[in-house]
Amino acid sequence: MEYKACSLNRVTLLKALILAGGFATRLRPLSCTRPKVLFPILNKPLVEWILEGLSKSDVKEAVFAVNSQTAFHLRHSKFSKSGIKIVYSCDPPKKPLGTGGPVKRAEKFLDEECFLVVNGDIFANISYGEIIKMHKDKNAIATITLHRVKDPCRYGVAELANDGRIKRFIEKPPAGASPSNLINAGIYVLSQEIFGYIPKGRKVSLEREIFPKLVEEGRLYGYMFEGLWKDIGKMEDYFELNKILLEIFFEKGKDVVKGVGEISPPTVCGKGAFIGKGSIIGPYTVLGQNVKVGRNACIKNSIVFPQASIKDSSVINGAVIGENVVIGKRVKISENCVIGDYAVIGDDVTLAKGVSVCPAKEILESVTTSKCVF
Ligand code: GDD
Ligand code: MG
Repeated sequence: MEYKACSLNRVTLLKALILAGGFATRLRPLSCTRPKVLFPILNKPLVEWILEGLSKSDVKEAVFAVNSQTAFHLRHSKFSKSGIKIVYSCDPPKKPLGTGGPVKRAEKFLDEECFLVVNGDIFANISYGEIIKMHKDKNAIATITLHRVKDPCRYGVAELANDGRIKRFIEKPPAGASPSNLINAGIYVLSQEIFGYIPKGRKVSLEREIFPKLVEEGRLYGYMFEGLWKDIGKMEDYFELNKILLEIFFEKGKDVVKGVGEISPPTVCGKGAFIGKGSIIGPYTVLGQNVKVGRNACIKNSIVFPQASIKDSSVINGAVIGENVVIGKRVKISENCVIGDYAVIGDDVTLAKGVSVCPAKEILESVTTSKCVF
């Protein structure tokens, strides 16, 4: 499975800062036990997709701007670094620095003429060379990647002039007040001058405080990106991204899965996955590494994290099952259910639509309404 960033002319530099210190509250309960950058996308952590893309654009060194929890998880995870030298820059304890503060904090490291900043919850098959070139040609202080979406309200929204300059930037405008449907895709090239705009030692929002100032001075530019782009900050988007990539990457007959069950495409199974006799997996399903499925089970439109086990005759549709979860026999799990890592769902339990189960929780009775089980 290979990530295809468009190849581009070589450009000098390159250092990047990856913003990865948010708290991912919208991805709970799965984000209680892993940061967004470690969420698997088609069985590969998002961080690996990001680093592969950066490496293809000649990035040699990257700083992860993290909180202590994310630093812990990343340091203990064996993700592939694509040859990039990694350093960590941690926000002070209990003082998140926002999206701008971490840039200022990493000033000494970011010592090139210009450098990349990427939100660590974005999947984009972008080629960074073009945006860097545009940034230099325009003599910008910041060039931000713009992407067209249907509903811009959840994002930063830009109004773009014909010469590439951004005329207006509004972070999360109220419904009906978006100046366009061009959103900030969370991928920037910044010049050294940016450090003069970011106050030191406090939380700073690039989007609310810095970009509007640069707009006033005519030094904020927008680079249009029309490729595949997704922010995985919400469960629906996380699902949607996996679905899109399943369609792109699924290759019939490529998976070598032990067992005698049936795979309905597009579906991807990780190494060591086992599907028992009479079980049907897919369509639109990702089974993580070493997932074990018993007999006569049915899993569709779902993402199952590594090492989970699903016993005989269980039915899962439209759910995300965390790592090491154990699902008993004849269990029914409906759409939009999210099961935290190490949870145990007992035999014959039915979970209604939209039930979330906290990590390591044991559920022995059915849950009939949409709620979070602590
Ligand atoms: N180190 C650190 N400290 N990182 C942070 C902090 C912090 O206090 N807060 C957020 N981050 C990181 C997050 O981990 C994420 O990778 C990135 O900064 C963006 O934060 P989100 O919380 O995901 O913001 P958003 O998705 O609501 O909005 C941002 O991304 C949109 C594109 O998806 C903004 O940049 C919008 O303008 C943009 O449209
Ligand atoms: Mg986000």
